[in-house]
Amino acid sequence: QGEALVIFTPSGKRGLVPVGTPVLDAARRLGVDLDSVCGGRGICSKCQCTPAYGSFPKHGVTVAEGALSPMNAVERRYDEKRGLKPGRRLGCQAQILADVVIDVPPESQLHRQVVRKAAEARAVEMDPATRLVMVEVAEPDMHAPSGDLERLNAALGAQWDVAPATAPLAVLAGLQQALRKGGWQVTVALHQGHSDAAPCLVDVWPGFFEGPLFGLAIDLGSTTIAAHLTDLTTGEVRASAGVMNPQIRFGEDLMSRVSYAMMNPGGAADMTAAVRAALNDLAHGLAAEAGVEPRAIVEAVLVCNPVMHHLALGIDPVELGQAPFALATSDAVEIAAADLGLVSINPAARAYVLPMIAGHVGADAAAVALSEAPEQSDDLVLIVDVGTNAEIILGNRARVLACSSPTGPAFEGAQISAGQRAAPGAIERVRIDPATKEPRFRVIGCDLWSDEPGFAEAVGAGGVTGICGSGIIEAVAEMRMAGLIDASGLVGSAAATGSARVVPEGRTHSYVLHDARASGGPLIAVTQGDIRAIQLAKSALYAGARLLMDRIGVDRVDRVVLAGAFGAHVSPLHAMVLGMIPDVPLDHVRSAGNAAGTGARIALCSRAARRLIEMNVRRIEKVETAIEPRFQEHFVAANALPHAVDPFAELAR
Ligand code: FES
Repeated sequence: QGEALVIFTPSGKRGLVPVGTPVLDAARRLGVDLDSVCGGRGICSKCQCTPAYGSFPKHGVTVAEGALSPMNAVERRYDEKRGLKPGRRLGCQAQILADVVIDVPPESQLHRQVVRKAAEARAVEMDPATRLVMVEVAEPDMHAPSGDLERLNAALGAQWDVAPATAPLAVLAGLQQALRKGGWQVTVALHQGHSDAAPCLVDVWPGFFEGPLFGLAIDLGSTTIAAHLTDLTTGEVRASAGVMNPQIRFGEDLMSRVSYAMMNPGGAADMTAAVRAALNDLAHGLAAEAGVEPRAIVEAVLVCNPVMHHLALGIDPVELGQAPFALATSDAVEIAAADLGLVSINPAARAYVLPMIAGHVGADAAAVALSEAPEQSDDLVLIVDVGTNAEIILGNRARVLACSSPTGPAFEGAQISAGQRAAPGAIERVRIDPATKEPRFRVIGCDLWSDEPGFAEAVGAGGVTGICGSGIIEAVAEMRMAGLIDASGLVGSAAATGSARVVPEGRTHSYVLHDARASGGPLIAVTQGDIRAIQLAKSALYAGARLLMDRIGVDRVDRVVLAGAFGAHVSPLHAMVLGMIPDVPLDHVRSAGNAAGTGARIALCSRAARRLIEMNVRRIEKVETAIEPRFQEHFVAANALPHAVDPFAELAR
């Protein structure tokens, strides 16, 4: 019979195979990524490929018509019923008869590359933990009694080379009917997580089930919960939504929730129930919005800070409220989604919670590290994610360090006299004219600046209600640039600053941004107390970053990445004027958007990414700011705007 040369593009993999070998088999033998759900039965069409004919000097081969076998009955039937694109063949049916070049289109690649939309586009290889496979199961035999699951597992082993899978009750309950209805052919959703864990059946459908399957990437923050419903074949996000974390009613910030758990019997359980209800509502809403059956959602990936992690998993967070801040586990957690209380998706869906970096640096920071990959960076990158705590990562290929710094909630608008959450009506942008000292601002939900005609109508009946985190940061930075406050953060008097907007407040001064009291509205001013709160928060952030820089032995970083809502809304210039971040050229500061959510999506789509972050988290050097003697020193020096001693040379440019 002889052999024929087969060359696959775009991989370039090549080898000799016996004449008559189906293309799918040749691909498997040569390690070419060609998909198949039906196991070569000519049903799923995932194995489609395109033979190329003619002369290929690059490959040193000429391909003649007839290099592949003509369509057989199975392939013709598929073509008649569902239609193959011109030139396409089913790889499981077409046999190699002579030397041939075969192109594998992206949609036939199981591990297709998905390019991320993030500013720094990196490709992620699709390799989800749960996939569909079709199997033909032996019928029961009176003479050799065995259970349906055991025969299914034997078939999975023989046809897909898979170790025996466990089946939760939810799957077992439907197995017998599916097998008989499908004439002993079924498609199963097979979950293969950690290489050392047994695979697990997530669902079973009679005959061929095409999918697609979906997963939820969840970023569980203390204030908001965001979730992305993601197609597990293409990596595409089909719907996204966010809700407030209902635990807020038990405490604004993390520590107050930990205290609630300490002070109230059953308090932790109440908070667990609240967050789980919100997760279920989110999942339910996303499925409805995307028109996806809840049953098709077979995976969830969760990223969160340590306190949220424990509360979501139903673990009392009391140990996280006191030194030495021991976690129940810092490893990744792989469980049934139902154990996480996620019951509005497939009843046998699986859940994966990213590993924790340390007692204060959670899986959300691990997700940021996964998304930003500092360990692959040649230059030294500082990644800052600010919520109630700042999570700070510094590193490059040589080493990566992480710490968390207690900034408090001032950057989120809390503890600010007119502060509020980022919601319609909140001032989010501020500019102050250095000559006239007059402010103009923008509020969330309105496209106009306050000095533009039609602003009052555009803001609507709700009016201007307060100032949010990015607004107060810009306001203080603008006040500094306009000479309204000095380097120590002190607000000058009206006489000293020449601004009628500066009004006395006790023994200090405030700067009035917006006064609507005449019409029953609020007075929104930046008080001396507000500035002090921002100074404390920014000093903690900067001191944390400096501590990591000390460890590496540098006094500059190459670039800064601002993650999270903070990064998306705070301008690099204003952050630098306040000395929140170390001195770097402004064009070396980048916002990474919701990097934690992106990290969750990457982990959802790729088992390799899960292994990578599990390994990297072990390697990250943890720095505990609370016990570092130099933290206090850095903190005090960072109180000035921008800093008492560190030169902020870039600001002078
Ligand atoms: Fe399913 Fe070819 S492998 S149609």
